Amino acid sequence: MPRSEVSIALMPAPYGSELYRASLKLRDEVLRQPLGLTLTAEELADDAFRTHFCAVADGAVVGSVSLRPVDQQTLQLKQMAVTEARRGEHIGARLLAFAEAHARGEGYRVIVLHARLGADGFYARFGYGCEGEPFDENTIPHIKMTKRLG
Ligand SMILES: CC(C)(COP(=O)(O)OP(=O)(O)OC[C@H]1O[C@@H](n2cnc3c(N)ncnc32)[C@H](O)[C@@H]1OP(=O)(O)O)[C@@H](O)C(=O)NCCC(=O)NCCS
Repeated sequence: MPRSEVSIALMPAPYGSELYRASLKLRDEVLRQPLGLTLTAEELADDAFRTHFCAVADGAVVGSVSLRPVDQQTLQLKQMAVTEARRGEHIGARLLAFAEAHARGEGYRVIVLHARLGADGFYARFGYGCEGEPFDENTIPHIKMTKRLG
């Protein structure tokens, strides 16, 4: 059995909690520092309006993702990050499924996201389709992707 299936727990990381702060550290390490950026005050303020989820292994946060309402039917997924040492163990896939299950449970029908080019193949495996042309965000090319929840 893959290591992740026996030792990874998925859970909410309530805004302001210890799990949230650990997720923030992971996001900074995975999504910002490699680009020479830091999390901005604007991003941190936006976190108050998001629902945060994390993956925990041996007491450490190893993955994170969040959802923000766009309208009554739609959520935007952001901040998908898995710590480098644990990639390829289906932690990202499980976090995505966990976030989607939450979205369905809350009655949402659509998830939108801005995928980094290179990560778009990951989302495509789980039913996300590209829309429009690539654009720059946080200094690197992204593409909008959408999934209608079944
Ligand atoms: C993208 C990311 C979240 C994927 O997480 P992960 O836990 O390593 O991915 P998983 O193990 O769940 O992968 C699930 C499947 O998608 C595939 N996959 C993973 N990353 C992929 C990619 N970039 N392109 C295409 N397929 C990918 C895996 O091979 C796996 O396939 P399988 O089911 O046939 O084994 C992780 O690589 C990451 O944090 N990257 C850096 C940050 C980043 O780019 N975040 C996305 C911002 S939009």
